[in-house]
Amino acid sequence: MIVFIYQFDWRYALVLIVTLAAYFLFTTIATNHRIAIRRQMNESDTDANQKAIDSLLNYETVKYFSAEQREAERYDRSMIHYEKASTHSYVSLSILNAGQTVIYIIGVTVMMVMCVYDIEAGRNSIGDFVLINALMIQLSQPLNFMGTFYREVRQAIIDIETMFSILAKSPEISDKSNAQDLRVESAEIVFEDVYFHYDPARPILKGVSFVAPPGKTIAIVGPSGAGKSTISRLMFRFYEPQSGRITIDGQNIQDVTQTSLRAVIGMVPQDTVLFNDTIGYNIRYGRWDAHDDEVREAARSAQIDRFIESLPGGYDAQVGERGLKLSGGEKQRVAIARTMLKGPPILILDEATSALDSYTEHEIQEALRRVAKGRTTLVIAHRLSTVVEADEILFLDQGRIIERGRHEELIARNGLYAGMWNRQRQAAEARAKLLEAEKEVNL
Ligand SMILES: Nc1ncnc2c1ncn2[C@@H]1O[C@H](COP(=O)(O)OP(=O)(O)O)[C@@H](O)[C@H]1O
Ligand SMILES: [Mg+2]
Repeated sequence: MIVFIYQFDWRYALVLIVTLAAYFLFTTIATNHRIAIRRQMNESDTDANQKAIDSLLNYETVKYFSAEQREAERYDRSMIHYEKASTHSYVSLSILNAGQTVIYIIGVTVMMVMCVYDIEAGRNSIGDFVLINALMIQLSQPLNFMGTFYREVRQAIIDIETMFSILAKSPEISDKSNAQDLRVESAEIVFEDVYFHYDPARPILKGVSFVAPPGKTIAIVGPSGAGKSTISRLMFRFYEPQSGRITIDGQNIQDVTQTSLRAVIGMVPQDTVLFNDTIGYNIRYGRWDAHDDEVREAARSAQIDRFIESLPGGYDAQVGERGLKLSGGEKQRVAIARTMLKGPPILILDEATSALDSYTEHEIQEALRRVAKGRTTLVIAHRLSTVVEADEILFLDQGRIIERGRHEELIARNGLYAGMWNRQRQAAEARAKLLEAEKEVNL
């Protein structure tokens, strides 16, 4: 350290400080500039992935419309963005590295030239020249390391920022801090003046009130889009009503834990989606610790046992993504079987038999009646033949209950329900006549 210690020369120190300052300034500015590019690259990568998954999941629709080419082009367009962003990112990385090297070399060269002049003037020796050179080369390594480190950290933060933004989101529905577990004794459900909308501009439920007494069956009927399935989603607390209360055995469902609430409700949904696993796995989903015999018993009650036994793999047969290897009616019966296995005190059947032909529907109705026995049941139905025996029928239209009562009362009243009933009966009679005519022709 002859130069810096024995005969400290401020000129060399100044050149070094200026070089380092320029180096850090350049690294910071260039890295920050690259953040935008990196973000763009990540976004186009996500976009391309989403498009690929979307078209693979909906591959049947893609084929119905012979849209393979269009889908491939859509994916290509996203990939082109990714390609561009990716190239851009690597070019900018090279510029960053080259810039850092150039700045440093300029600094070293200036010092070397200064040293040469000092040797000429007799102020420095050849040894000083070698020393300065060696020191500067040594310094370049930690500098490079720091530059890379800074870049990598910034890049990693960008890469996981989406994850952080997801983690920072608080769930729309969360348990209250003092939430208790729901205690069910008789399973009485009460809706008190419930108002609900998904979007403030479009109210869905406008003051719905009803009581489902313990063990009774309440049917909710009405046109498509009236808000019937919404009622079942509110029961499960996927959403919360904007005003009004929903109680089970006197406990507001907003005040209890979601897990305990969902544990007591069994649901056969309108469209059943299965897991890409075996059919046995999908039935067992209702209750994990169920015995094999219980799984078989549930399958028998849901009238799907014979179908399963006819499959090459039996209960170990794969159902495909979202259950696409099964027909709509088979999926629905799997859903019924797993709900039977769960055996909850409250049952919601949302158009549970809509995907079945009338013969199977009739058989399942019998099974559903058996499970509904002793359970408080909400039956949502479009086909009125399935609700005739309900203890009370609610006719929902545009978010309001406009008629309620037992089947005979509603028919006698000759209102909307009676109108819908007559239309459906006429259709059923026409179907029966057609069948008879067909039989005659065949004979
Ligand atoms: N997640 C949602 N976001 C916005 N609107 C929705 C959502 N789910 C359902 N809707 C709308 O709410 C209305 C009622 O839906 P739903 O309760 O499913 O009707 P249905 O009586 O046929 O079961 C429909 O018009 C539907 O478009
Ligand atoms: Mg519905």
